[in-house]
Order: sequence, then structure tokens, then C-alpha cells
Amino acid sequence: MNLILLGPPGAGKGTQAERLQDAYNLVQLSTGDMLREEVKSGSDLGKTAKEIMERGDLVPDDLIIKMISGRIDQNSGGDGIILDGFPRTTAQAEALDRMLDEKGLKMDHVIQITVDEDAVVERISGRFSCAKCGMGYHDHFKKPKVEGVCDKCGSTEFTRRADDNADTVRSRLAAYREQTAPILPYYEAKKALKAVDGMGGIDEVYARIKAVIEEG
Ligand code: AP5
Repeated sequence: MNLILLGPPGAGKGTQAERLQDAYNLVQLSTGDMLREEVKSGSDLGKTAKEIMERGDLVPDDLIIKMISGRIDQNSGGDGIILDGFPRTTAQAEALDRMLDEKGLKMDHVIQITVDEDAVVERISGRFSCAKCGMGYHDHFKKPKVEGVCDKCGSTEFTRRADDNADTVRSRLAAYREQTAPILPYYEAKKALKAVDGMGGIDEVYARIKAVIEEG
């Protein structure tokens, strides 16, 4: 099963992808995580992406398409993929269709997580993650079971994203409205888009997504 999670910054795409990959044995492909790895490694792509990400703008389509295409190849042996943060423009959505065709794959679900902008700002401003394994947490909504210790790997080091500040969040929301929301009609026209209410607790939203998947 292959699926796409769409939604604005802070909608819960990464949080839900983490749970879905365990439940359905899928591989999560997050273009945001891949870019942050490139920045950390100091690669040419990372150097180009760093400033763009800190401004809250989108990284150019050609760079993203090249990066994700290689990853879909590498992971094609699994039970499927979850795309988180890709596609983000119409050009990326069209490129994805071409990639899937070439690889003989199909997208089973395109799930749009809908949320209020006020909630998004609250979610993003409280977000942190494990510096070692990347497990995501929140100051109020998803604390580690033992304070200061990662549930998954036991590390005591945590990190906050450079682009999780009020100014950048506003730019990221604008980029979503202007460049990503226009791809919704693309998937609507293919009768592939399923909207899920992303307001409510993490478990509640997960149950809604699972119901959409099980409905087929
Ligand atoms: P990316 O990393 O993709 O960030 P994003 O889309 O802005 O999404 P987020 O990771 O902020 O949010 P999320 O929906 O995953 O929320 P999460 O689950 O963490 O992209 C970063 C940048 O990279 C972009 O700005 C761009 O520059 C570049 N980029 C990436 N992909 C690109 C592409 N395809 N093209 C061009 N550029 C690209 O949840 C947030 C917090 O809320 C967490 O703390 C979580 O615990 C909490 N939470 C989650 N759900 C709930 C809930 N139901 N109730 C309460 N709290 C919740």
C-alpha cells in the first residue's frame, strides 16, 4: 500500500506517518527529514536548501524530484511507502505520477489532514524531537513517558528545528496556501483525495486515518 499525507505545516503528517509505518509495515519518506539530513551533512544540496528552509520557502522542484526519485527506488522492496511533505507543488505531483508509472507502482490513498491555523502555530511552537533517533514529541501534547528520556531509544538529548519560529511558520503557511493547496484539485480530479479532520488528539486523528484506509 502506498499513500500520501498532505496538509499544512504542523498538521500532524510526521506524527501520523510514524504510527502508520509501524501498523502497516510501510517506509516513511519525508522530504523535510531528507533535506535536514542534507543540511547536517553539509552536502551541496544541503547548502542550497539551508537558507531556503530557514526562510520558510520551498526548495526548487528539480532538486526535490531528483532527491525523492532515488529514495523511492531504494525502498521499493518494502510493503509500501508513505510520502510525507511531498508532493508540494503541481510540478512535483505530476513528476510523482511519472515516477510511479515508470516503476510500475500506484498510489492507493491521498489523505489530506485539515487543521485550524491557530492549532498549527501551537503545535509547531511546542515541537521537539530526539537528537539520536528523530522520534517526535510535544511540550504538552506528546511528552516522553519519562521526562527527558526518549521513549524509543533512551537518549537524553533532544533538539528543536531551526524553522520552528513564529516568522518562519508564517512563511511556511503562506507557501502551503500559495503553492501546495493548489494541488488538492489535481487529486480531487483523479477521485483520489480523502480529507481527514486533523483537529483532536493524536489517537483520535490516527483512528480517522485508519478508518479511511480500511474503507479502501
Ligand atoms: P517539512 O519538514 O515537510 O515540514 P512541514 O510540511 O512544514 O511539516 P511539519 O514537519 O512542520 O509538520 P507535520 O505536519 O509533520 O507535523 P508534526 O507531525 O511534526 O518541511 C520543512 C521545509 O523543508 C519546508 O518549509 C521546505 O523549505 C522544505 N521542503 C520539504 N519538502 C519539500 C518539498 N516537497 N518541496 C519543496 N520544499 C520542501 O506535528 C507537529 C507537532 O504537533 C508535533 O510536536 C506533534 O507532537 C504535535 N501534534 C501532532 N498531531 C497532533 C494532534 N492531533 N494534537 C496535538 N498535537 C499534535
